[in-house]
Amino acid sequence: MKVFIAGGRGRVGSPLADTLEAKGIEVVSGGLEDGIDVISGKGLAEALAGVDTIVNVLNTPRFDAEGAISFFEGSINNLTAEGERAGVRHHIVLSIVGVGEGDASEIGYYLGKVAQEKAVRSASIPATIIRATQFQSYIPALIDQHTVDGKVLAPRTFIQPVELAEVIDLLAEAVTTPKPGSEVEIAGPDRFYHDDLFRATLAHRGDHRDVVTVDGNELLEAMIPRGAYRRGTVRYPIPGIPIA
Ligand SMILES: NC(=O)c1ccc[n+]([C@@H]2O[C@H](COP(=O)([O-])OP(=O)(O)OC[C@H]3O[C@@H](n4cnc5c(N)ncnc54)[C@H](OP(=O)(O)O)[C@@H]3O)[C@@H](O)[C@H]2O)c1
Repeated sequence: MKVFIAGGRGRVGSPLADTLEAKGIEVVSGGLEDGIDVISGKGLAEALAGVDTIVNVLNTPRFDAEGAISFFEGSINNLTAEGERAGVRHHIVLSIVGVGEGDASEIGYYLGKVAQEKAVRSASIPATIIRATQFQSYIPALIDQHTVDGKVLAPRTFIQPVELAEVIDLLAEAVTTPKPGSEVEIAGPDRFYHDDLFRATLAHRGDHRDVVTVDGNELLEAMIPRGAYRRGTVRYPIPGIPIA
């Protein structure tokens, strides 16, 4: 089996490539560093020759709706067009739990992920969508995103971070046991409030930034699974945070 990982050298793509290779699967890494551009199409046709499955773990620094939608939708369209020519049979996409739900739908980056899901769902190559909550290792970056003028503005809303390795295992499973047409969610074992999680994480890191609890819109409970999901077993590495 030959797998093309779109974004194969990223935070998710790189350990996923190692995991698949350890299972004896041939991996082609498709990132800018590999000379492949999924937006312009450069190098894509050659890289997809003989590929059975695409795993799409691309990302963009564009957080505005226009930039994110154009990147995520455009990359699905290009991967589908070239993938179809190459005979690709399965396209697995990593998305985020809750995008498109409640107030989360107003966030530009999430609108890009919604457009990505919609595009792959209606594309000609059978697709699997895996939605993960925030990675545990991503929480410090998330705190930075919530920092305004040195203060961390944290809503009193739920967050249920998952260990990245458990997301990688689920992606690898989707490759080896394909169930095209399925949509699966994964979250960590414990649910916290953003402000509690941010305070404990900063204290643990010796970071003295103030965390200010801001009004959490009751509707913004979107970033946790609503229905059935795979519950990871790896606990957040800082003990003692109140479970919500
Ligand atoms: N962070 C979280 O907590 C979280 C939670 C759930 C889901 N996700 C999703 O996980 C996915 C992967 O995130 P990540 O953190 O692994 O991203 P990342 O580390 O930023 O990696 C993104 C990859 O995309 C590649 N890329 C960007 N533009 C490209 C282009 N035009 N052509 C080809 N490759 C391009 C990059 O290639 P180069 O390295 O060569 O530039 C890089 O390999 C994202 O879609 C994100 O929404 C993240």
